[in-house]
Amino acid sequence: MNLAGGAAYTLRPATSFLWRTTTADGIMYPLDRRADRRSFRPVHLDHNPQPHQDAKDMATTLRHSRILGVGAYLPPRVVTNDDMCTYMDTSDEWITKRSGIKERRWVELDVTTSDMSMWAAEEALKNAGVSKEELDMIVLATNSPDHENPATSCFLQRKMGIKNIPCWDVRQGCCAFVFGLSMADNYIRTGMCNKILLIGADLFSKSMEAFDHIREMAVLFADGAGAVVLGACDGEVGFEDPHVFSTHLHTDGEGAQELWCKAPGQCYPGPRISHEAIDRLEHLPQMNGSAVFLHAVQRMPEAVHEALDHNNLKPSDIDLFIFHQANLRINEMVTKVLGVPLERVHHTIQKFGNTTAATIPLGLWDAVQAGKLEPGMLVAIAAFGSGFAWASSILRW
Ligand SMILES: CC(C)(COP(=O)(O)OP(=O)(O)OC[C@H]1O[C@@H](n2cnc3c(N)ncnc32)[C@H](O)[C@@H]1OP(=O)(O)O)[C@@H](O)C(=O)NCCC(=O)NCCS
Repeated sequence: MNLAGGAAYTLRPATSFLWRTTTADGIMYPLDRRADRRSFRPVHLDHNPQPHQDAKDMATTLRHSRILGVGAYLPPRVVTNDDMCTYMDTSDEWITKRSGIKERRWVELDVTTSDMSMWAAEEALKNAGVSKEELDMIVLATNSPDHENPATSCFLQRKMGIKNIPCWDVRQGCCAFVFGLSMADNYIRTGMCNKILLIGADLFSKSMEAFDHIREMAVLFADGAGAVVLGACDGEVGFEDPHVFSTHLHTDGEGAQELWCKAPGQCYPGPRISHEAIDRLEHLPQMNGSAVFLHAVQRMPEAVHEALDHNNLKPSDIDLFIFHQANLRINEMVTKVLGVPLERVHHTIQKFGNTTAATIPLGLWDAVQAGKLEPGMLVAIAAFGSGFAWASSILRW
């Protein structure tokens, strides 16, 4: 599914052009001042107009979003692979060889997902030069809710002292941030919002008393949060201007039980959580590691190619790839399949582990800190995770 489908470039990427839309049918035509117009083909917009808008309104209100600022929260507590050996029967060699991870961050026990989200959000707002009063919406991508109900974004909103704007959680595994990016981008494109705070945050370490039962997962997953502020672009947007080009989302529920957590849930004939379910360890996440691995190495390159094709780009046009950080081996295979030089892929897994919904914004943030991501660069993002879900995006930073 191609969301925010307007940016299907039909020209060489180096060519700068503007977007122009027809008024009646919602078809978008790219317009280049310099190039031969006969080379353009119309691109059908495949998003769903809001109920109060007809196609004509959509054509006149459609615009683009861009990332205005990025922030992160990484717990100060560093947990090395040797430290992990004190919680379970494992070794630095096993973890490094299979995942590339050397260390990860864990929160102190009184820290929650909404706390980490707030700290990342505050930095993103500061870097974006946006005040919290300017926000129109908060989207929190997380799989580690503070409570089962209501959404963790409600607790985040309260902690940040923000009132009367919609907020919601996106719970789509390791793809949650890219799904959230797609939602935020489309709310801005359709003119319903001007500025949106989007956070990816996950917290895994609090299951540590049970780590010996889930060794495979315990060494991979970690805690952290990253946030971006998205804002509407001013005026017409050209290929060279910073903006989100497109987002592409997929889900295949056939894989739902390959990486999942059964309890608590309404699937039980009795109470949604019981001592018996806990005794059967159904409250702990479960993973079929090899199934996840096999699907990830197939779906991630597919997702990247989908985004590139949609925008008439080649892998060599991309300045920086930010992949979901599940496993260094997965990402090395994806990089090889795409034929991309290693220096154009930014990894954080060695030092942060797999922070689930936070890996993509943390990757953006860390690449900025490392001087690898600079204004004007073309960025490709791809993720794969539970669901199974996979997603990609291309944006100009
Ligand atoms: C999980 C994963 C690292 C396992 O790697 P693998 O190469 O399949 O594992 P191996 O077959 O070499 O090893 C399995 C053995 O290690 C053991 N083991 C599991 N976790 C261990 C740990 N933390 N330390 C030491 N040994 C461990 C297993 O019990 C098993 O032992 P056995 O052979 O005696 O039964 C790999 O499948 C993977 O990366 N999968 C993708 C996971 C992922 O990305 N998830 C997130 C998606 S968003």
